[in-house]
Amino acid sequence: MASRKLLLLPGDGIGPEAMAEVKKLIAVMNDKFGAGFETEEGLAGGCAYDAHGQAISEADMAKALAADAVLFGAVGGPKWDSVPYEVRPEAGLLRLRKEMQLFANLRPAICYPALAASSSLKQDVIEGLDILIVRELTGGVYFGEPKEIIDLGNGQKRGIDTQIYDTFEIERISGVAFELARTRKNHVTSMEKRNVMKSGVLWNEVVTQTHKAKYSDVKLDHMLADAGGMQLVRWPKQFDVIVTDNLFGDMLSDIAAMLTGSIGMLPSASLGAPDARTGSRKALYEPVHGSAPDIAGKGIANPIAMIASFAMCLRYSFNMVAEADRLEAAIASVLDEGYRTKDIMSEGCIEIGTTMMGDKLVEKFQSLLA
Ligand code: IPM
Ligand code: MG
Repeated sequence: MASRKLLLLPGDGIGPEAMAEVKKLIAVMNDKFGAGFETEEGLAGGCAYDAHGQAISEADMAKALAADAVLFGAVGGPKWDSVPYEVRPEAGLLRLRKEMQLFANLRPAICYPALAASSSLKQDVIEGLDILIVRELTGGVYFGEPKEIIDLGNGQKRGIDTQIYDTFEIERISGVAFELARTRKNHVTSMEKRNVMKSGVLWNEVVTQTHKAKYSDVKLDHMLADAGGMQLVRWPKQFDVIVTDNLFGDMLSDIAAMLTGSIGMLPSASLGAPDARTGSRKALYEPVHGSAPDIAGKGIANPIAMIASFAMCLRYSFNMVAEADRLEAAIASVLDEGYRTKDIMSEGCIEIGTTMMGDKLVEKFQSLLA
């Protein structure tokens, strides 16, 4: 069987702790199920800056481009607060997204039944929640030029970021959202700020045209992104697939994270376009949470978002659908049994640390096969 090449970039803070739990799973899948994963490891973020003064080295960038999939932990932390902007830890992640052309970021927010009580929202608001945020990831204000701080010479400075979207970028991300909606509840809500932004006017137009031309079987709604944020916490179950730009997607997906109980629960997949010849896509999988420097090294981080990101990797990069289903079922089942990391702890449950949670999931993953 063909080997499956994975590049692991654990990064900073709790990234390596969470990644260690995925490594256990990979080892079991190789040893017991002949999955044939070949892993390499690299540095991205603050750790890469410490090692070579760059947020990701050329060599690791080349490995990422050559891998079938990249698993990414988290980057950043106060240690690197004063490094130059160009080499700050986040620059490593942004470079990976840009150079691998990972324009489609899928962020599913699923509320596991066992966690319905641990969100800050009322149980009936989030129980059974299953939404998918499709965030544009290689355009918008994250990458638009000019992007600079200029000195106005009068004691004032001016900070500039540029929000830019071209037709093709909006077409392809909305295409991904419509396609995915067809496999779900067939409903897309597009979010922008057309009331104040020209890019929002174009976004709205192009999504509408794309819908009309190719996806008129899918239900389409438009919402202003601020109202969308409000609706997400008011009654999130009204949504199925949300499609939005890079910056709004960043914010809305953090909001969605809290609907699932904790930001420690949200996985994500960042995908490129399918290769014209092989059909395979470049892909990077990462938890939505950050490096959480305040709890790094304490052994209490929740590895579930990282492990669920690996499940997405099995599903989208290797078409290992049964294994992905089983891994997701293992997560639900371990939660059902009452095991919790600190961030999702509630009364009557059993608090465990990162490695124990990883062990429980690996064990459950294997037993679900028996
Ligand atoms: C995310 C993160 C990143 C982003 C940061 C780390 C650059 O917040 O993936 O949501 O803003 O995209
Ligand atoms: Mg974010």
